[in-house]
Amino acid sequence: PPDVVSQAPEDPLFGLMAAYKKDTDSKKVDLGIGAYRDNNAKPWVLPVVKQADDRLRSDPDLNHEYLPIGGLPDFTAASQKLILGKNSPALSDKRVVSLQTVSGTGAVHLGSLFLSKFYNPSNADAKAIYVSSPTWANHNQIITNVHLPMKSYPYFSKETKGLDFDGMYGAIEQAPSGSVILLHACAHNPTGVDPTQDQWKKIAKVMLEKKHFPFFDCAYQGFASGSLATDAWAINHFVEQGFELMIAQSYAKNFGLYGERAGCFHFVAAPSSSAQDEVARVGSQLAILQRSEISNPPAYGARIASLILNDEKLFAQWEEDLRTMSGRIKDMRKALKENLDMLQTPGNWDHIMNQIGMFSFTGLNEQQVQKLREQSHVYMTKNGRISMAGLNTGNVEYFAKAVDGVVRE
Ligand code: LMR
Repeated sequence: PPDVVSQAPEDPLFGLMAAYKKDTDSKKVDLGIGAYRDNNAKPWVLPVVKQADDRLRSDPDLNHEYLPIGGLPDFTAASQKLILGKNSPALSDKRVVSLQTVSGTGAVHLGSLFLSKFYNPSNADAKAIYVSSPTWANHNQIITNVHLPMKSYPYFSKETKGLDFDGMYGAIEQAPSGSVILLHACAHNPTGVDPTQDQWKKIAKVMLEKKHFPFFDCAYQGFASGSLATDAWAINHFVEQGFELMIAQSYAKNFGLYGERAGCFHFVAAPSSSAQDEVARVGSQLAILQRSEISNPPAYGARIASLILNDEKLFAQWEEDLRTMSGRIKDMRKALKENLDMLQTPGNWDHIMNQIGMFSFTGLNEQQVQKLREQSHVYMTKNGRISMAGLNTGNVEYFAKAVDGVVRE
């Protein structure tokens, strides 16, 4: 029957990307999707990725065979070391199981699907996953699609444009014992606001007391502090506390491998004499889920990432490339703040400098965002998020003036 399937709304982020492409105005500014742009507003192929790509293409043995269900073993092993640290007790105890996924989205999906099937806390009320309010819009869809009950915890303070730590902590403390808590490992999307290490320690402590289950989404390792290890600090603190936990790891942003869909899912068992047996059982079930959905993951992006992660020289070059990206983003935060200061734009704009990672949550409201688009051809999500990488030395002044205009209206 014709009316069984209703028309769904367009995806807001990809809709924004399409609208930007269609706009023919030469002044248009794309601050929508979180993808790095160079100072000429162009996509940037990381020099290290170019090198790895050239090496791969000239390999006479390169073929297009299937990867194993769990993905490329060199890639998953290197991904474990990157996120957990080479000397992680979880790795030496062999209590981690990892599967290559269709980028971070696939990893969040695999973890959520696994929870929806197998997470049966003794307290039935606890069968829910708590996400930050706000969170990456796709979290909501992925989790709803696998029928996992979803709740939220406060995260962002509209007053300070920083972390609402008391709200977050209180909600986690009040959640039924044994709940799943989805945490952004670093460079929170969309707010650009992260807990401090002290705050993370408090969150870990209350989660341990409440026997909550952490699920980390790590899509920006290398983008927040400029150090890969520091950006994984929260995850490793939780591992050190003895949690059983899951991690979704994306290589879209930090390798610029957006369309190649390279990512990894990790399950870390708590330290115990049966941990190895547990990861074997969990891994066997994850393999069935993976096989039924994607059969086996896409090879090319993982091969590029694997080459870089497993080669000391390429790895050092990668860290350099990461600094190029995070450095330019920091410069743009500074330039935007300076321009707003110069214009004496009403309001406090310190948060532009204080927030970190790919995004800034400007505090602009939906009407202001709409006006920026109509009057100045500036494209950003209606929650007021801007992708900092869309700014450059050629458009930051224009953007600041446009913001100044709508704030004064
Ligand atoms: C974003 O939030 O802009 C990115 O994570 C891209 C995406 O897939 O939503």
